[in-house]
Amino acid sequence: MKLIYAPASPFARKARILIKELQLEDKVTLQDAGAVTPISNNADLNLINPLGMLPALTLDNGDSLYDSPVICEYLNHIADGPFFPADSNQRFRTLGLQALGDGMLDLSVAMRYETAMRPENLQWQTWLDYQQEKVQRGLDTLEARCQQFEKSPLIGEITVACVLGYLDFRFADNDWRSGHPVLTRWYEQMLERDSIATTVPG
Ligand code: BEZ
Repeated sequence: MKLIYAPASPFARKARILIKELQLEDKVTLQDAGAVTPISNNADLNLINPLGMLPALTLDNGDSLYDSPVICEYLNHIADGPFFPADSNQRFRTLGLQALGDGMLDLSVAMRYETAMRPENLQWQTWLDYQQEKVQRGLDTLEARCQQFEKSPLIGEITVACVLGYLDFRFADNDWRSGHPVLTRWYEQMLERDSIATTVPG
């Protein structure tokens, strides 16, 4: 199997973390796709994922999988891992947390593209402010909920770690830690895991 990724992609990072956690390194090779942006066209990637988005996973039978929730669940499935539990309470709690984290990443990546790629005279501050408010509400929700996070991380917790790593990487000036002391401590503990520490972007 081959995971097509970009080192900076927080969505691809979820899959890279699972590959390490599930000890799948000898079964999945990593291929850096290079620069993939909303205004680039990567013909090779388009053949694997018609949306031209990362991450994408090619299977040994030629099939391909995307997006990150599908890839992560597949990796967990083949390794019989613990990250997508069968118990419905636990399962939907962690899928919900993953959805919150993925939504925060969608907003953050869109903001990143607006400021890093859009010509400065076309950038829309009001739009940025609204997206930032949504991310802030997400952070406040995580702060309120993180004492109930699973001690042994599931896909929801892995996704939240990727959100916080991406905010550190691309939005360090905004200091997400301010006003979120419990989440700050939780993330420090997550960084003690090898899979998290060795995939920090930057
Ligand atoms: C970034 O450079 O911030 C980025 C790269 C790939 C996917 C998403 C974000």
